[in-house]
Parts: sequence; C-alpha cells; structure tokens
Amino acid sequence: DQPKPLAGRRAIVTSGPTHEPIDPVRYIANRSSGRQGHAIARALAKLGAEVTLVSGPVTIADPDGVKTVHVESAREMLAAVEAALPADIAVMVAAVADWRVAQSAPQKMKKKPGEAPPPLPLEENPDILKTIGHHANRPHLVIGFAAETHDVVAYASDKLARKGADLIVANDVSKEGVMGGTRNQVTLVTREGTESWPDMDKDAVANRISDWIAAQSGKK
Ligand code: C5P
Repeated sequence: DQPKPLAGRRAIVTSGPTHEPIDPVRYIANRSSGRQGHAIARALAKLGAEVTLVSGPVTIADPDGVKTVHVESAREMLAAVEAALPADIAVMVAAVADWRVAQSAPQKMKKKPGEAPPPLPLEENPDILKTIGHHANRPHLVIGFAAETHDVVAYASDKLARKGADLIVANDVSKEGVMGGTRNQVTLVTREGTESWPDMDKDAVANRISDWIAAQSGKK
C-alpha cells in the first residue's frame, strides 16, 4: 500500500462545466469534460484525504473512494461547496459559467413564425473560488485553475491575489486537446514564484498536484 500523507485531511474539489438554464430544455454550457477535476479528486483520495467532489454535468464516471455531489448550475455548485465546509484543502477545477441567463423561462420558449429571436440578457454568476478564498471558514490550502489562451502567467498571478488562492494552476487552452482532452501542460503560480511542468496526461498532472498539496500540508 502507498503512504497516506493526507490521512485525516478533508478536501473539496469542483469539476466539470456548469449548465445555466435558458428554459427547461435549453442551457448555456462549455467544453469542460471534468477529466482534470475528477483525476485530482481520485489522486487526493489515494493519498488518504476524505474527498467531496462537487461535479457539474459530465459523462465520465464518479471516481472511486470519493463522495460525489452532482449539481447543474454555478449557484448550485457554490451551495454544495459551502455545505461541504469545513475542509483543509479546496481545489476549484470546475469551468464555472461566468454568466447565467437573468430570467430563465419556466416553460419551453416557443418559436413563433415571423417573430424576432428572443433577447437573452445575462447576469454574473458567483465566483466560487473567490468566495472560498475569502471565506470565514477558509480551508488552509485554496487552489484554483486558470484556463487562458494568452498571457497565461500574468493572468494567473493576478488571479492568485484577487481570488485569495495559495496556488493557481495555469494552463493554455489555446493548445489543441487541452479543454475536453486527456493531456495538459500546466504552470504553477504561487506568491513565491512559478514552475512549469512538461506536457503529460491529466492523471499525471493530478498525481503531481496531489503530491504538491501533501508537501504543503506537511509544512504548515
Ligand atoms: O476567473 P476565471 O474563471 O479565469 O478563474 C478560474 C478559476 O476560478 C478556476 O479555479 C475556477 O474553478 C474558478 N471559478 C469559480 N467560480 C466562477 C469562476 C471561476 O470557482 N464563477
């Protein structure tokens, strides 16, 4: 059996996209598969952590050894994360929709011949990472992701401060096959500096991030 450096630690991981309803049958979503978040939940559990995975709608299986809570929207995701507090570690991997439809329709919107398409005003969703990073019950270690297409490290450093995180794992989603795919190339951004890892599959990224977390939890 492998050592369990995170035994007795509680972790919350978010994963996947969110779905923001337009009406009962339509929604706004994104290309996140949940692969990276689910892999991190599994890797933390393997190191002995008691893990709650809060997952948006995905087609991949719930990881073994993890308590998985299924949600649809950003607001549901935030509620589930707060319900899972207190925790020692929070890893917010989900690709949360920035906006939701301001007034989703209670019934299916009907297309009427000759009528203009309906306007779809949006409003901002809660920022789950930022909420947890500044929470009265803030976990000791708060980790976020930054999926960017350019100026990856600059945006990640800004995010670190603004969201109250200890680590931002930045990845370049302009690279083919990262969003929705199985491989990832990440740069770790902390207050101490940055560290780039080679391209590897998402399970390997998850294992290395979990080892990093275990090393931090050991320092305290
Ligand atoms: O601001 P941006 O969306 O680039 O930040 C990405 C990080 O913030 C990810 O860790 C993501 O899970 C988290 N996030 C969140 N809630 C939001 C938006 C982003 O938790 N509404």
